Amino acid sequence: MMAAGRKILLGVCGSIAAYKSAYLTRLLVKQGAEVRVVMTPDACQFVAPLTFSTLSKQNTHWQFTANEGASWNNHVELALWADLVLIAPATANTLAKMATGICDNLLLAVYQSAKCPVAIAPAMDLDMYHHPANQHNIELLSGYGNHIIPAEYGELASGLEGEGRMAEPEHILAWIDDFFRPKGPWAGKRVAITAGPTREAIDPVRYITNHSSGKMGIALAEEAARRGAKVLLILGPTELKPANPAIEVVAVESAEDMLKASEAVFAETDVFIGAAAVADYTPVSPAIRKVKKTDKDLSISLKRTDDILKTLGAKKRKGQLLVGFALETHDAEQHAREKLKDKGLDLIVLNSLGDVGAGFGHDTNKVTLIGRNNKSLPMELKPKAAVAADILDHLTPLFDA
Ligand code: PMT
Repeated sequence: MMAAGRKILLGVCGSIAAYKSAYLTRLLVKQGAEVRVVMTPDACQFVAPLTFSTLSKQNTHWQFTANEGASWNNHVELALWADLVLIAPATANTLAKMATGICDNLLLAVYQSAKCPVAIAPAMDLDMYHHPANQHNIELLSGYGNHIIPAEYGELASGLEGEGRMAEPEHILAWIDDFFRPKGPWAGKRVAITAGPTREAIDPVRYITNHSSGKMGIALAEEAARRGAKVLLILGPTELKPANPAIEVVAVESAEDMLKASEAVFAETDVFIGAAAVADYTPVSPAIRKVKKTDKDLSISLKRTDDILKTLGAKKRKGQLLVGFALETHDAEQHAREKLKDKGLDLIVLNSLGDVGAGFGHDTNKVTLIGRNNKSLPMELKPKAAVAADILDHLTPLFDA
């Protein structure tokens, strides 16, 4: 699933193996990758560009100018867009041109403009594949820093059997999966995050809630997943959801639901982050039927909800990290420090509604990180994605502490 969310520019050359690239496109899209296809003119003899456009849901490019010269296919823009340029199948002709810097079609221009990694899956008949010229070109291309996905052994289009056919689409997919698999300290860590508001029912049509959009918690989930963590997002009612399909989402409504979902996974969690705005009070006995209005005022009795982080903090085992947020309007640092201690947290992220662009609903946040040593680290106003990265960076050294 590591291809999910990645931008892959698939270069297709004129080989019968081009038909397999159509299936590869489908596999990549199914995994959640964004795929754009650039074909050599000869590749269009084997598979129609429309096939790739339909499978990738993007226009396929094969000429420098599109629509009879009406517009310029910007090879630089295409190359800079990609996280990975994958040339599959790569023919002997294209390998030779790539090795020597010939640039007489759009795909070669994209290749020369690419700043991202480039992977090459050669495809040709067995004798061609073993020809010293082609092996030399493959070595040259590898020496330039390109990744080679070796050709495989099997039946070839010529009827011969041997090494030379393009790696199977599933094998290329596995190569991409491994290539994008993060190898850093967050790789494989089990991370659970609460996000969004909760809803506390008054009756079947009314509820008590707050202004949380879920953006901060979702940004944390995206960043942890990007670093290779296995992420579970316990998400209160919000329109938003994470883009990365690798993030598992458990949708909850009330504070009680959120507590149950959190307790269910906590023992199996390495890092738990409470970014949700959880109701502190809930109606004592929500009405089963709609409360009819009268001329009189109405009072609703509220009771305290259980504190999720405090409950988890009491069960925390050695090596687990527990992170909370504090949303304050006054005496912010003092309240945050009290919460850090009271809930047994390793880190508290203070945000204040007094700061412009911070807190509920914004795409930005301004936070102060307060750790177990009680040192506080004030940060600038920045996008929530960058705040999420700061928080995870701050936690990384605590893994082995
Ligand atoms: O969702 P956004 O629109 O992006 O907004 C982000 C945010 C402002 C909601 C987020 O940055 C934030 O501050 N979340 C915590 C809000 C909050 O409820 O703060 P608090 O100070 O009341 O709670 C302190 C901590 O205890 C929080 O981590 C909270 O999740 C947790 N808590 C609170 C009550 C409760 N019953 N159980 C809890 O675990």
